[in-house]
Amino acid sequence: MLIAVEGIDGTGKTTVSRYIVELLRKKGFECVLLREPGDSEYGERIRNSKKRLSPEKELELFMLDRIEDVKNNILPALEEGKVVVMDRYYFSSIAYQGARGLDAEEIRKMNEKMAPKPDLVILLDAEPEVVLERIKSRGDLTPFEDLEYLKKVRENFLKYADESTVIIDASNPLDKVKEEVKRVICEFLNVNLQKNPD
Ligand code: TYD
Repeated sequence: MLIAVEGIDGTGKTTVSRYIVELLRKKGFECVLLREPGDSEYGERIRNSKKRLSPEKELELFMLDRIEDVKNNILPALEEGKVVVMDRYYFSSIAYQGARGLDAEEIRKMNEKMAPKPDLVILLDAEPEVVLERIKSRGDLTPFEDLEYLKKVRENFLKYADESTVIIDASNPLDKVKEEVKRVICEFLNVNLQKNPD
């Protein structure tokens, strides 16, 4: 099983992905938690770049980072029967690089050619105005976090939500969000374990 947690910055993806792993481990599943950008040299380059890269260069680095992640981490874990939980996945490329003017549909296609499609996407959704306040109070604004840009990113996330996506209102307090996530995960497991009892 492959589960992705997506959403604009400041919606609580990291807390929620850790919480999902905790829940699943309690239920006896072996889990691997991965985050994107990952630990490849490309992921490091994205993190360390001082100035904003061009949209094309940015997309290229995110793609190269993901190709490594799929080959080295995601596919091996899935083959070993583990549950993989992703703190960001290719919907982030569709949403963020799409919002910089690249063709979002093309980005979706190129990713789905090489990256396994998640069984469940938890989209943590909130108004950019709300999350920017949170990020400011945390004191770590990055070039990805500009109001007009995040509005477009959010629109793309919502537009590319498909049958595996569950949208959760992330403007609520984190405890409420976690409660909702727990409900979604339990329901997802019920449906999936009935389909694949082994
Ligand atoms: P991340 O490390 O998740 O930052 P944060 O912890 O602040 O959420 O990601 C850094 C930025 O990278 C984030 O603003 C979103 C962006 N990003 C893309 O633009 N495209 C992508 O494909 C991915 C995975 C992330």
